[in-house]
Amino acid sequence: MSNQHQHGKVALVTGSARRVGAQTVRSLHAAGYNVVIHYRNSAEDAGILAAELNALRDNSARTAQGDLTHVSALPRLVEEVIGFWGRLDVLVNNASAFYPTEVGEITEKDWDILVGSNLKGPMFLSQAAAPELTRRRGCIVNMVDIHADRPLRHYLVYSVAKAGLVALTKSLARELGPAVRANGVAPGAILWPEAPHDSASQREIIERTALKREGEPADIARTILFLVDDAPYITGQIIAVDGGRTLSN
Ligand SMILES: NC(=O)c1ccc[n+]([C@@H]2O[C@H](COP(=O)([O-])OP(=O)(O)OC[C@H]3O[C@@H](n4cnc5c(N)ncnc54)[C@H](OP(=O)(O)O)[C@@H]3O)[C@@H](O)[C@H]2O)c1
Repeated sequence: MSNQHQHGKVALVTGSARRVGAQTVRSLHAAGYNVVIHYRNSAEDAGILAAELNALRDNSARTAQGDLTHVSALPRLVEEVIGFWGRLDVLVNNASAFYPTEVGEITEKDWDILVGSNLKGPMFLSQAAAPELTRRRGCIVNMVDIHADRPLRHYLVYSVAKAGLVALTKSLARELGPAVRANGVAPGAILWPEAPHDSASQREIIERTALKREGEPADIARTILFLVDDAPYITGQIIAVDGGRTLSN
């Protein structure tokens, strides 16, 4: 057991068994939050992460499964999460599907998967969590993308979904204020997708980034922590964490 500060507040991070979400969970946990690691398929990783955090602080991490495209199940997910410790203070909409969609070949299924995870799911999850977040004067952080503003070529549906998530962030800030703040973080190149990738285009992206390197999940996690814990007068904003990528073409 560590002597970490514990304040008993609860954070739910969607899609957080691995990668950026897992780092976000670790950072919130280190700051004293009890954390709910939500996953869809990554049950094993979620369980390992929860065990790691519970070893640091007893009964401080739980897991919850769910597919965000199954909208009718989202109120139950929120109830399950509140049931763990009797409260919910922070919702981080992190889960996301990401793959290219070429115009002429886009199917309704692509739309449902990409918009479902990146926009529709976050909207209905935020709606389900809103009464409890309002009671707790909590907050929402949405993981958007610098490509919400400047569409990523070959990724039409993903770019549209993230643009919608920016709009959702601002709308939630208006609708849920003053009790609940809602902000977004827009990563640049943090972790490349695990699918086969084109290393020449990755080099090109880094070349066009002012800081000439990729970021790390910790850069995103500390920005989320700032928005959650240290930004009481910030709402409806999107912070780009992109090493200056959006300064150039
Ligand atoms: N990585 C980057 O450099 C980067 C750049 C720009 C924006 N972002 C944004 O930052 C966030 C985190 O990035 P990441 O690369 O760590 O994400 P990721 O690995 O691509 O996805 C995170 C998780 O989302 C979950 N997920 C996908 N579809 C879902 C669905 N329908 N229902 C429930 N969960 C679903 C998956 O969970 P399971 O594994 O459990 O199935 C996956 O592990 C995302 O919102 C992403 O768009 C990341």
